Amino acid sequence: TTRTPGKSPVTVTVTGAAGQIGYALLFRIASGQMLGADTPVRLNLLEIPQGVAAAEGTAMELDDCAFPLLTGIDVYDDARAAFDGANVALLVGARPRGPGMERADLLEANGGIFKPQGEAINAGAADDVRVLVVGNPANTNALIAASNAPDVPKSRFTAMTRLDHNRALAQVARRAGVSVADVRRVSIWGNHSASQYPDVFHADVAGRPGAELAEDRAWLLDEFVPTVAKRGAAIIDARGSSSAASAANAAVDHVHDWVLGTPDGDWTSAGIWSDGSYGAPEGIMASFPVTSDGQEWSVVQGLEINDVSRERIDASMAELADEREAVRALGLI
Ligand code: NAD
Ligand code: LMR
Repeated sequence: TTRTPGKSPVTVTVTGAAGQIGYALLFRIASGQMLGADTPVRLNLLEIPQGVAAAEGTAMELDDCAFPLLTGIDVYDDARAAFDGANVALLVGARPRGPGMERADLLEANGGIFKPQGEAINAGAADDVRVLVVGNPANTNALIAASNAPDVPKSRFTAMTRLDHNRALAQVARRAGVSVADVRRVSIWGNHSASQYPDVFHADVAGRPGAELAEDRAWLLDEFVPTVAKRGAAIIDARGSSSAASAANAAVDHVHDWVLGTPDGDWTSAGIWSDGSYGAPEGIMASFPVTSDGQEWSVVQGLEINDVSRERIDASMAELADEREAVRALGLI
């Protein structure tokens, strides 16, 4: 394999590697789309024992792509081994809601995954590890993992709301009849759930304020907000399974912008450890408008929040505080 001289490989651990999102994600990481065309990558794939054979098949296909940047692939069913030395960790594998499962059952089942994975990251990941949780309920799973990795700064753990952000960009562009490339500064607030609040009030829509679009309150509240917030369910209804390629794409975008920085004059959205900005409870994993300098995410400060937004942001943040209480009661954090 050809290696770019000078750069040592970045170790990327992907859990749920044999799943739908894993299959859409791994090839894009290995091709250089996530970390840049000059950064070699080592892949560590983590699966449960039943998923190992399929993950090994994907590893064979990755070999067969002859990606110049891919320096090695290993498949594991042991979290400690899989996270050892990880610089980037994509926590995709999660327990889906089964028939008759209550919300508390789901939180408990996922606690059984994200608690040991947080502990494994704490034990052996690289000092500069960056974690993105994709598996649902993503924000609270990220809270569980972060809470069980006491030696890793909380700023190293994030939950994915980039898919919601990209969905919002697409809906705004369609409404305004402009290219998606001309829409900037939409924001996702709160939870990656139906309570999330996609915010257009601060957007730049081909040079015009997003607030102009929002003047049509019927569009805003009866179309835009619910279309974005319930898009995941609409995809499940249409496809018979949840979004996969668009979720993988959003994970690539999230890590890309975290590592390489957000473009000047723009921002994105990510679930990060709340410092209490905009009145959110501290210590939940909540989505905010954010920028990255290539190292850390920072909340975009100073946005004016009107009454329409305030009510919805507060409700989604409150849902996250409730989820935190539920996992605290289960002894997971
Ligand atoms: P999938 O069921 O196709 O794949 C999940 C994989 O995870 C399976 O191969 C399973 O064996 C594996 N797995 C389960 N427990 C594991 C563990 N402890 N360690 C390692 N691997 C484990 O599901 P998918 O479609 O790839 O979706 C994965 C998750 O992403 C789901 O929770 C889904 O709800 C979520 N999701 C999140 C977003 C988002 O925007 N945040 C978007 C789409 C999907
Ligand atoms: C999505 O937003 O597409 C998914 O989180 C939906 C789901 O429930 O898996």
